[in-house]
Amino acid sequence: MASSADAAGSTHPSTHVTILAGGLSHERDVSLRSGRRVAESLRAAGLEVSVHDVDADLLRFLDQHRPDVVWPLLHGASGEDGSVRDVLQLVDVPYVGTGPRECRAAWSKPVAKSIVIGAGITTPEYVTLPQSLFRELGAQPVLDAVVERLGLPLVVKPTQGGSALGVTLVESADQLPRAMVDCFAYGNVALIERAVRGTELAVSVVDLGDGPRALPPVEIVTDGPYDYDARYNPGRTQYFAPARLGEDSVSAVQEVAVRAHQALGLQDLSRTDVILDADGEVQFLEVNVAPGMTETSLFPQAARAAGLDLSELYRAVVRQHTGV
Ligand SMILES: Nc1ncnc2c1ncn2[C@@H]1O[C@H](COP(=O)(O)OP(=O)(O)O)[C@@H](O)[C@H]1O
Ligand SMILES: [Mg+2]
Repeated sequence: MASSADAAGSTHPSTHVTILAGGLSHERDVSLRSGRRVAESLRAAGLEVSVHDVDADLLRFLDQHRPDVVWPLLHGASGEDGSVRDVLQLVDVPYVGTGPRECRAAWSKPVAKSIVIGAGITTPEYVTLPQSLFRELGAQPVLDAVVERLGLPLVVKPTQGGSALGVTLVESADQLPRAMVDCFAYGNVALIERAVRGTELAVSVVDLGDGPRALPPVEIVTDGPYDYDARYNPGRTQYFAPARLGEDSVSAVQEVAVRAHQALGLQDLSRTDVILDADGEVQFLEVNVAPGMTETSLFPQAARAAGLDLSELYRAVVRQHTGV
């Protein structure tokens, strides 16, 4: 293992971090970019870093190299649903972030919503519809009942997913069937919820051992839907970090993010997506256990807005698990 000289001139083994990036989800490319950025930052902090995909070589690699800690930067499916972390526990490798059980709950948007409702957080009214039930009951009567109950506009999204893939804003009832089809292309269960108009905010939370604290909210303004294209192609979206909010609103959205982090039992870091509606109510949309870390991602923007150095911050996250 690599060694480095400390200030006193003696040598000590440097911390070895293995970043997991890639995976087979729709967000593979985003994950690779997140992995590269965090790897650069940790190397700048003097750590030894390897980046590995989730593939047939991974367990052999972990067994042979025994990294001090693994940082899963996988977005979507097995990276966020807890299963990769389950396997890391099986082979006794420590990892950054939330445990498998809590990941599983956070990853499912309706489960996360029901848990945060229990913690007194407001979230848009919703129904979940599995594709099978939708077929069994006949699409049209179900959709009519949904529109009658929830009204319009609505948002349709897969219960499990990310990067706004399969998400549609539905403004009239005739757009709903198409939105359902698009959603079912990404998953078997659709979440249909009331669309909220207001200020879209992403609130990152970090816990460096002294309890979770929220970073400055980042405000997202797009020229259309905040979809995959708007997220990853610079220019279509304007970010304000920190958000252009009064002190009370900042405190309110930060409190929701910290409460969601705690209610869901999340570890180290998370990012909660909310909309601050016209009545000043903070509406919880979802939480991410492995927030994006690319050059345009919200978590790093929030950290910079807080005046934090990314290398130092990521180093401190790793230190939670390695002790050095
Ligand atoms: N209820 C809603 N009202 C208004 N916009 C929404 C609603 N739900 C989602 N959106 C929009 O869709 C985007 C993606 O939805 P989100 O629940 O955050 O899923 P993802 O996991 O794909 O990021 C959000 O960033 C927001 O712009
Ligand atoms: Mg989101």
